[in-house]
Amino acid sequence: MFQDDLGRVASAIQAGFDRLLDDFPDLPMAQGMRYATRGGKRLRGFLVIEGARLHGVGQDRALWPAMAIEAVHAYSLVHDDLPCMDDDALRRGLPTVHIKWDEGTAVLVGDALQALGFELAAHENVGPAEVRANLALSLARASGARGMVLGQALDIAAETTGVPLTLDQITALQVGKTGALFCWAAEAGARLAGADIAPLGAYASALGLAFQITDDILDVEGDAATVGKAVGKDADAGKATFVSLLGLDGAKRRATELVEESCAALTVYGDAAENLKQAARFVIARRN
Ligand code: IPE
Ligand code: IPE
Ligand code: MG
Ligand code: MG
Ligand code: MG
Repeated sequence: MFQDDLGRVASAIQAGFDRLLDDFPDLPMAQGMRYATRGGKRLRGFLVIEGARLHGVGQDRALWPAMAIEAVHAYSLVHDDLPCMDDDALRRGLPTVHIKWDEGTAVLVGDALQALGFELAAHENVGPAEVRANLALSLARASGARGMVLGQALDIAAETTGVPLTLDQITALQVGKTGALFCWAAEAGARLAGADIAPLGAYASALGLAFQITDDILDVEGDAATVGKAVGKDADAGKATFVSLLGLDGAKRRATELVEESCAALTVYGDAAENLKQAARFVIARRN
């Protein structure tokens, strides 16, 4: 059920990007945008569509914020992979944008995808102007210097200073780096309906952390062919992760606890939230 629904959402998001980017100028910048918006698990987009469904909002409106968060996520990956950041050559099983084209193109692809994300969050088809403004404003807060970019900055700072982080500091870093976009994605459905965002926010806070812990575990346990990106990079870079602090078993236990926590936050939705609970279990069982 969940896997089928995730597949359907992934196809709808892909078709949306294909339509949208089709007539962009024929420059490496636009080719790179098409390239960087292909593939991926589309989990954040799925959270938007599923959260919207829980509030009676259909895909005709929810597809736009789903594409918005996938565009912002794709931008964050293109920039994260740059030589001045994580210096990665492989993403989603393919050469990264700066390897396929060049660094200047990758910077611009990220810039353009970020702007596109806000355009999509405020798209005319999303609904009333107030809802569109609310989505764009909350996306700005989630992705900027108090959200995802803050997490990335703390990540880089920890790497360059080499001072070991405490568990609380790693948690704060990951709340920004991964959690902020997950929270926005899950809360978007409630925002679309003008409903309380708190339960979905609590779900996604725990889920985002479990997701990043699993990303860190896959960096140790995974192989590049399956994961679709280089592995073993965090330890090489001396990066602070839950694995570096708790060990593999400790990190896995923590991720499992967090998934239980995230599912418990959905009680108010009853059986209707089954798909989101399955998504949470998938997050820690995934191999890529
Ligand atoms: C990777 O996210 C970056 C992190 C926040 C760890 P995903 O694993 O969701 O990437 P895609 O979209 O499926 O490629
Ligand atoms: C990056 O985290 C998360 C963002 C892009 C915001 P990582 O650096 O751990 O992600 P991967 O492992 O390269 O996908
Ligand atoms: Mg990184
Ligand atoms: Mg990286
Ligand atoms: Mg990683």
